[in-house]
Amino acid sequence: MSIHKKEEKKVTTHVLHEMKARGEKISMLTAYDFSMARVVDQAGIDVILVGDSASNVMAGHETTLPITLDQMIYHASSVVRGVNRALVVVDLPFGSYQGNSKEALASTIRIMKESGAHAIKMEGGEEILESIKRILTAGVPVMGHLGLTPQSIYKFGTYTVRATEDAEADKLIRDSKMLEEAGCFAIVLEKIPANLAKRVAENLTIPVIGIGAGSGVDGQVLVVHDMLGITNEFSPRFLRRYANLYEVMKGAVENYISDVKSVDFPNNKEQY
Ligand code: KIV
Repeated sequence: MSIHKKEEKKVTTHVLHEMKARGEKISMLTAYDFSMARVVDQAGIDVILVGDSASNVMAGHETTLPITLDQMIYHASSVVRGVNRALVVVDLPFGSYQGNSKEALASTIRIMKESGAHAIKMEGGEEILESIKRILTAGVPVMGHLGLTPQSIYKFGTYTVRATEDAEADKLIRDSKMLEEAGCFAIVLEKIPANLAKRVAENLTIPVIGIGAGSGVDGQVLVVHDMLGITNEFSPRFLRRYANLYEVMKGAVENYISDVKSVDFPNNKEQY
């Protein structure tokens, strides 16, 4: 028997392509800090997204717009330190890439150099194609994001399902093909009809990861705080809660408070 531990195979963009080719579904969750990233990575997740949803779940903002590039780098570098196997993808935040492709590349380079992450994600199709191409030319893998793109919430007006009308569905299909042809390694589709998402996934050779996009895609992503039930006010139809950590954590804190007040904590064994 070998005394060497088996090296875990790291997830790369190539591994994700192979997974799609053999029909193995891809699991993806968000994480924003070292401790959560460790749990999620050690559980065996394929991709960790340092999402700009950190703006909502970590900072308490109503939208993803306020989070800054510096803040994303802080979250991403914390996550990278907790990860051994998963591919770490970081969202380019609102305002860090929409200006022009030079700005987009400069923001990407900061993320890659300062966090040690493996790839970036950007929201949009044709309108950001030049930036995507420039980033890819620099050797950085890009994940696209189409459908409900939360950085455009003030344009959409609501968080309801996107691409239910033909014109928007046709643009989404065109955009997804454009992103694949440009060289994106994967695409996230958020909150669109399941039939449309399935059609896109079947049309592309790169993996399509869905959130609120049904089961016909190549993988699924959720915000980790939502699926663990740490957040309890957000309940869209697509969200499955795998735990109710809000209640577990609140109960533990209540017990601690009670033990401190009653001088039950610390006991004789818990002191020096
Ligand atoms: O920021 C985020 O968490 C995301 C996912 C919802 C895909 O972009």
